[in-house]
Amino acid sequence: MRADLRIGFVGYGAYVPETTLTNEELTHLVDTSDEWIRRRTGIQSRRILNGTETILDMTVGAARKAMLDAGVEAHEIGDIRVGVNTWMRFPSLATQVQKALGATDAAACDVSAGCSGFIYAVEEAYNKIFVERVKYGRALTSLVVGVDALSHITDWSDRGTCVLLGDGAGAVVIREVDAGGILATHTHADGNFGHLLYSETVPVLQAASAAPGPVQQIEKGPPAFLRMEGRKVYAAAVDTMVGEVRRVIEKYNQTSGESIGIGDIDYVFPHQANLRIVEMVAKRLRIPLDKIYTDGIVKYGNTSTASIPLGYCDVRDRFPDRPPGRLEVDVAFGAGFASGAILRRVP
Ligand code: COA
Repeated sequence: MRADLRIGFVGYGAYVPETTLTNEELTHLVDTSDEWIRRRTGIQSRRILNGTETILDMTVGAARKAMLDAGVEAHEIGDIRVGVNTWMRFPSLATQVQKALGATDAAACDVSAGCSGFIYAVEEAYNKIFVERVKYGRALTSLVVGVDALSHITDWSDRGTCVLLGDGAGAVVIREVDAGGILATHTHADGNFGHLLYSETVPVLQAASAAPGPVQQIEKGPPAFLRMEGRKVYAAAVDTMVGEVRRVIEKYNQTSGESIGIGDIDYVFPHQANLRIVEMVAKRLRIPLDKIYTDGIVKYGNTSTASIPLGYCDVRDRFPDRPPGRLEVDVAFGAGFASGAILRRVP
């Protein structure tokens, strides 16, 4: 790796829908209680799209804030990657963001990797910036958004899943930086476990693909509900996220000659799936809970690929004076048992 080439986050943006859905409100939909949800998940409320805002609004909203934060204009963006699982159509959400922003010089594509989509998208953006510089001598600025509208695929009669999920978007601008930056990334997947966390295939879509019919026929079809075997996913999430943190540090140490340990990490942004998962990951890694972001779970629930970048904005708003140079890790796990981690030094 070229030692002088540093690539990092230079701007952050978040967008959550206006409508809040509390645990108490969910008790009117399914047989549950605020006490059960808090004790088993830590969640107190979540935001959901209410019909006036769309997944595109969330994505563009977060992207615009990140660009403003970075001081970057649309024409400077050369690459747009959107981690998303709930766009469910083409052309990609990234191309519609490109259009909305007027980022006419950008390439654009979506990244589907379950709740780890943001990590995958950052890794791809980072690698592209690196190659463009080393191979072609070109500086590239990338926009990465993690967004999902899980409410679109929530079965509001399934108490085992509907209490967990929420909607939101978070974005970062990535480019070359003078100090700090991304030190290492690691990603993995295991599709053998796809049946434990998935969205159903829409029957009407199957029929339509055999004999294409009017679009309205598809749109009126039953939604592709999210299904999950919670206990098995819980156990796998803990093991995998612990492994990802260790692996990304090892990967960095092997290539840099440094010997960073878990104790050197200043802060962790885990995917906000469930407070109990995060607490168990912290315990297994022996990282104190005050070094781990957990507020997103409490107020937004599981926002899938948005949860990590939403966390960046939340922490920055609450602690604006945190010094540069901190060592941080992002770690995620999700459907397809796709997982990943990023080791970063904050510029
Ligand atoms: N309210 C009240 N009771 C509920 C409930 C709810 N919302 N959801 C399930 N229950 C009930 C079950 O029906 C079951 O009742 P029973 O004992 O009478 O059969 C009981 O609670 C225990 O169910 P179980 O599914 O074993 O609970 P759990 O302790 O595993 O907690 C989850 C359920 C979903 C909170 C937990 O499995 C989990 O967090 N899994 C990981 C989810 C996740 O984060 N996935 C995304 C990863 S990216």
